[in-house]
Amino acid sequence: MKTKVYIIGKEKREEAIANAAEVIKDGGIVAFPTETVYGLGADALNSEAVNKIFIAKGRPQDNPLIIHISDMDDVELYAKNIPDIAKKIMNRFWPGPLTILLEKKECIPDVTTAGLNTVGIRMPSNEVAREFIKKCGVAIAAPSANISGRPSPTDVERCIEDLNGRVDCILGGDNSEVGVESTIIDCSVYPLCILRPGGVTLEELREIDESIYVDPAILNKSNGDFKPKAPGMKYRHYAPKAKVIIIKGNLEKTIEKINELMVNYIVEGKKVGLMVTDETIESYKCEYKKSMGTRSDLSTVAHNLFETLRSFDDMNVDVILAESVEEKGIGTAVMNRLKKSAGFDIIDA
Ligand code: TXA
Ligand code: MG
Repeated sequence: MKTKVYIIGKEKREEAIANAAEVIKDGGIVAFPTETVYGLGADALNSEAVNKIFIAKGRPQDNPLIIHISDMDDVELYAKNIPDIAKKIMNRFWPGPLTILLEKKECIPDVTTAGLNTVGIRMPSNEVAREFIKKCGVAIAAPSANISGRPSPTDVERCIEDLNGRVDCILGGDNSEVGVESTIIDCSVYPLCILRPGGVTLEELREIDESIYVDPAILNKSNGDFKPKAPGMKYRHYAPKAKVIIIKGNLEKTIEKINELMVNYIVEGKKVGLMVTDETIESYKCEYKKSMGTRSDLSTVAHNLFETLRSFDDMNVDVILAESVEEKGIGTAVMNRLKKSAGFDIIDA
């Protein structure tokens, strides 16, 4: 398949968006920018178009998609029995990195929600995303624009890397500011439950309602008894080609442990990459080391996380040794993605 690529900046913004929207109207699939990560979109009401997303990504059919809207009022077109607390949450956090699960209306086909009676809805804050959705005139079903299992793309080059030749169109715009996917909150039940930590933090959500809690099944490696409520959270995900190992504990000990492990792997003939932070990077003597950002502002780490993981693949390293960060605020989302990319391979420092 020949993929049409429209990059805003190289092409006029309005034309690029209009061309991409035409592809959606013709039943095609389009990668597009959002503030969390790039998405791979289709008309959410067109089963055939939505099905193409699953094929292009190699995504399991039991993994439902989030739908994206450009206008707060559009939520009524796709969801019913919307509780007041959900409206309060939308008013506070939309547009932005938060997906709300609600009871779905009949118009949404089974393939979009993988047969569930709830639908995840998000209104992104990225302006290009909203203009594009508006121009399509319908909600856009979109997972992250990566091949299933790979780290999500946060810029157009990474989308092209994964999807060129597999999708009808790629619309390039801003790099994703947040860098990790949206928080998912189930508002079809009470108390409300967070199914995936993301750009909006638990602490912020609890300002609306103190009873909001995080699905316990996502905090550790899932086993048979504890099934995550979001189907996608059970898969190994965000994984670069290299093996990832997380080193957890007091910072000084972490540095010591990483240096020790690094030497052992190099002796074994392995190429080692270090994924560290601004505060520690000078403590390592390694050819392939990269800082994810600063510990004093973990949103910088979230912003760079997936790009750093992918850049180690470009360097063809065999093993990535990663520092952990504090599981607080956006750090919860960072550690959730990092643990999944490591297949929960965590070593105490
Ligand atoms: O930030 C984001 O949310 C990005 C951008 C493109 O908007 N999208 C994204 O989609 O991360 P995806 O498909 O990569 O992840 C969606 C997650 C999956 O784990 C899926 O199982 C879960 O949301 N999900 C979607 N609808 C659901 C539903 N009705 N019930 C439970 N989980 C649902
Ligand atoms: Mg994804």
